[in-house]
Parts: sequence; C-alpha cells; structure tokens
Amino acid sequence: MTTDTSQPVPRPGILDIAAYVPGKEHAPGVARVFKLSSNETPLGPSPRAIDAFRQSVGHLERYPDGQAMALRTAIGEVYGLNTGNILCGNGSDELLGLLCHVYLGSGDEAIVTEHGFLVYKIQIMGAGATVVTVQEKDCTVDVDAILAGVTGKTKMIFIANPGNPTGTYVPVAEIRRLHAALPKTVMLVLDAAYAEYARRNDYEAGIELVSGSSNVVMTRTFSKVYGLAALRIGWIYAPSAIIDALNRVRSPFNLSGPAIAAGSAAVRDQGFVGDAVAYNSLWLDKVSHALEAIGLKITPSVTNFVLIHFPDVDGKRATDADDFLTSRGYILRAVKGYGLPNALRMTIGPEEANRGVIETLGEFMGRS
Ligand SMILES: Cc1ncc(COP(=O)(O)O)c(C=O)c1O
Repeated sequence: MTTDTSQPVPRPGILDIAAYVPGKEHAPGVARVFKLSSNETPLGPSPRAIDAFRQSVGHLERYPDGQAMALRTAIGEVYGLNTGNILCGNGSDELLGLLCHVYLGSGDEAIVTEHGFLVYKIQIMGAGATVVTVQEKDCTVDVDAILAGVTGKTKMIFIANPGNPTGTYVPVAEIRRLHAALPKTVMLVLDAAYAEYARRNDYEAGIELVSGSSNVVMTRTFSKVYGLAALRIGWIYAPSAIIDALNRVRSPFNLSGPAIAAGSAAVRDQGFVGDAVAYNSLWLDKVSHALEAIGLKITPSVTNFVLIHFPDVDGKRATDADDFLTSRGYILRAVKGYGLPNALRMTIGPEEANRGVIETLGEFMGRS
C-alpha cells in the first residue's frame, strides 16, 4: 500500500463508507409531485409548534440554551422521565453518531441487522469499528441471530424498533430476552423513531428497560409524528453514566433556539399527536389492503410507511414501478441499499397521494 503524500488523508476505513442518500424529492418534468420517500407526516407540525417557532424569531442574535432545558423538561413531563437522563440532539442521527464515537473504536464490533437503518453502519465505520450484520427473518429482527453474532469484541447492538424500511417490530418480551442474554458491557441501542405509530399491546419503545438497566439506551425523534424534520430534533433516554459521557463530547449548542422552542410546544400537544396517529392508522390499513388487492405483497407495518414487494419478472420489478410512479409524480423510496432490491417503501401521505399511488400501481400491475 502506498501512502498519499500530496494531500491530507482520512483515517483508514473512512473512504470505504457509502454516504447516506436521502429520499428523492423531484420527478423531472412532472408539475405536481407527492414526496412519499422520507416518512414525513402529511399533517405537518402542531400549530402550537409553528407559533413557538415564529416567536423565537425575535431572539436570533442569542445563543440557545446549551442544555436545552425547556425541551428536556417538556419531554420529561410528557413521558414521565427524569430530565437528567435525557439528552437532546440535532436529530436522532446526531445522537446515534455520538454513541458510536464515544463507545466504539478500532477493533470493536457493533451488530446491525440485515435491513437495519443505514445510519448505524455509517457511524460505526466512522468510529473505526467493524460492522457485523446479522440476518432478519421475513423482514423482522431475529433475536437469536443477534445473539449468535455476539463475540468478545461486541460493544454495541443497534435495533430500530419498529424497523425502517421494514415497518415491522420486535415484541417487548423478545427485546427483554435479548437484553438478559447480553454481557453488561454491550450497549443495546433501541432506536424508536416510529414508536408513536406502533400501537400494539406487546410493543414497548424501551423506557422501562432503560430505567431498569445500565446498558440500554432509547433514541427518539421529532422528525416523524411531530412533523419537525426540518428543525432536526432528537433525544436519547439513557442511564446517567452514558449521558455524562455523551455530554463531554457533544457540541455545546447542538440544538438551535427555534428547535428548542418548537419542540417543547410540540411535545406538549399530545392531542395533535393522537390525531396524527389516528389518521395514519386509517390510511395504513386502507393502503395495505388496497395494494394487496391488486396482487402486491406488503410487509405488515406498524409505522407510517409500507414496504411493497414487486414480482420478480421483467417489466414488473421495483425499478419499473419506481419509474412508472415517478413519471406520474409519486416519489417512493427505492430500498436496494437496504438489501431489498425488489421493493419500494411508501410513506403514508395525504389522502390524494395515497389514492393516487393505489390507482397508479393498479394500472402498473395490470400492464401486459
Ligand atoms: C429508524 C430511524 N432512526 C433514526 C432516524 C433519524 O431521525 P432524525 O431525523 O431524528 O435524525 C430515522 C429517519 O428516517 C429513522 O428512520
């Protein structure tokens, strides 16, 4: 191996990372576009959050509160948590990155699952550690496969629960079984970005498990049901020792003032969240049934998106469907990078978009 002496050289492994590709936004030549590629809510944020954001505009010359105390207090009150165990971040992406940079290094292994959220891989590799990918079963996280992947070098395990892009979930009993079998030095990261949508009796986001152990953390976001993706707000609930370590490394003002103001108002408006979840449940059900009725296979979802599997035949593959939908202004998410080359992920959108996708895919499947 020759060393490049003509320019600064990144640490080994950095140039092996495939940069994250966000959901498409444009459909060339189409006037009216529905973006259903990033799991954003069609309802937008609570009007109270918009109002708080507007009011914050009067103080743009000031640094924000580096502790984000108003937001941590609001989250603590609404979810019944101690503010000392909450840390806010510039999206949950920042917190996932911080965890890796603080707890992983060269020689360490971190486990992700077959169709896991790609940010985990990026951050693990960014910290110089090794990604260990274990199989899922029918697009669902498999606890036994994770346990089989644990070695003496394992430092972290990442599970999105519910999963993205699968939309499936792991019941709390399975998460507990996994946790019980792990060494105390292995951190279990429960990424609950879609927790609010998952209305199942045997689902838990992870609050109880974090509260009762020293090696479990839960990450959450304001980008999905709260409709504040543009403001980049996430939070982590974790044992004090982990919060302390993260606090030493994070940037001092990692949340903007408008984000703190809008997030605090949004989390206190749980009536709005309830309405958004009800709207989603209604349309998740309608869309899933309608797509199955036209002969497409759907992975059962508890989130605000569905994973649609296409027939593996010429002219009817996911890439063909993607082109057909895009030409009509419906932008879904290709998920080849998640090991699902013949599927598309569709965010539950406004009624008009949902109906439009159903009709367009009906036409697509009926093509000879
Ligand atoms: C599973 C999962 N985790 C985390 C995130 C990142 O969320 P944020 O916008 O808070 O960075 C997403 C966003 O798509 C996600 O799907």
